[in-house]
Amino acid sequence: MISLGLFLFSSFLCHVATAGRTCPKPEEIPFATVVPLKTFYDPGEQIVYSCRPGYMARNGIRRFTCPLTGLWPANSLRCTPKICPFAGILENGAVRYTTFEYPNTIHFACNTGFYLNGSSSAQCTEEGKWSVDIPVCTPVTCPPPSVPKFATLNDFKSLTKNHSLYGKKAVFECLPHYAMFGNDTITCTEHGNWTKLPECKEVKCPFPSRPDNGFVNYPAKQTLYYKDKATYGCHDTYGLDGPEEVECNKFGNWSAQPSCKASCKLSVKKATVLYQGERVKLQEKFKDGMRHGEKVSFYCKNKEKKCSYTEDAQCVDGTIEIPKCFKEHSSLAFWKTDASDVKPC
Ligand SMILES: *[C@@H]1O[C@H](CO)[C@@H](O)[C@H](O)[C@H]1NC(C)=O
Ligand SMILES: *[C@@H]1O[C@H](CO)[C@@H](O)[C@H](O)[C@H]1NC(C)=O
Ligand SMILES: *[C@@H]1O[C@H](CO)[C@@H](O)[C@H](O)[C@H]1NC(C)=O
Ligand SMILES: *[C@@H]1O[C@H](CO)[C@@H](O)[C@H](O)[C@H]1NC(C)=O
Ligand SMILES: *[C@@H]1O[C@H](CO)[C@@H](O)[C@H](O)[C@H]1NC(C)=O
Repeated sequence: MISLGLFLFSSFLCHVATAGRTCPKPEEIPFATVVPLKTFYDPGEQIVYSCRPGYMARNGIRRFTCPLTGLWPANSLRCTPKICPFAGILENGAVRYTTFEYPNTIHFACNTGFYLNGSSSAQCTEEGKWSVDIPVCTPVTCPPPSVPKFATLNDFKSLTKNHSLYGKKAVFECLPHYAMFGNDTITCTEHGNWTKLPECKEVKCPFPSRPDNGFVNYPAKQTLYYKDKATYGCHDTYGLDGPEEVECNKFGNWSAQPSCKASCKLSVKKATVLYQGERVKLQEKFKDGMRHGEKVSFYCKNKEKKCSYTEDAQCVDGTIEIPKCFKEHSSLAFWKTDASDVKPC
């Protein structure tokens, strides 16, 4: 037993003596691999460094032989990432990136009114090429707009073309008797479709009814339609409450319903009043009565302060209320000062 152990030990010593010193596991270099990779190497054994896919060798030496000293020589080899071609500009769009190095990804986006034809991102591959073609930003277009029923397309210059660019507008008009519901203008959107089409609906209005003490004129037709007009007037001393002309609106009724209102007879014989900012003699200005809606200001006296102020009175359908503070002087009382001649309060 002893002799066997001795033999093995001596043969081990013998091996070390003939092989010299072994090299350790070689230095690790970022992004590089070593072939073959072992924990120790006999002198004379060769190793080869190579950069991993996507990286390129810079400086240094790639092939080494384990020397008798058992020390690997210093290695200045560097593996640097491959760089993909410049892709930093996208016409009518933008590129988001940090660097164009392997294995980075860059992102693409188009400006409003353009759409991305292609991929929204690309990766720099091991070969130093982009994984996909760089996309292009293509202008958004809309097909020719469809025209709503009972409408005509107005003010649209590119009718002859097959498509419209983003932002282009088209304006519709309804045929006579038809009213527009919705926006008359449509716009080519960034999605390549048009905004909502309006609708044109036929609208009829009832015949307007004759006002008491007045009359109404309208076109002599079987049916009155949207935008037809009617005019009102009153008899004798009656005054119109409302506009003279009304129009059939898109809701199928008239823009207003004027009526005739009675004018006012004045119980006051003599007074100076304010009418539309001017001093007038009531009995002269309104000798035929006062029309419905007309307004005057009467002068009243403040006895304590010996000054005058005004109060309004309006003719409302045949009735006017004279302010209580107003005092009418008898025409014989010529020595009394009229309120309108007293200084204002
Ligand atoms: C996208 O671009 C390619 C060429 O780059 C073109 O052939 C294709 O028609 C385009 N597609 C669209 C939908 O615009
Ligand atoms: C419009 O499109 C039709 C077929 O889709 C084509 O034949 C015609 O040439 C186009 N016209 C224009 C002005 O592009
Ligand atoms: C109609 O649409 C246009 C844009 O398309 C907008 O400017 C306008 O304000 C809209 N009109 C109404 C009444 O909504
Ligand atoms: C236009 O297309 C967008 C996106 O597909 C959609 O959300 C929108 O409702 C469409 N608009 C109209 C008016 O059809
Ligand atoms: C017209 O009709 C609409 C809806 O029926 C109503 O809201 C409106 O007040 C009417 N206008 C007039 C002037 O009668």
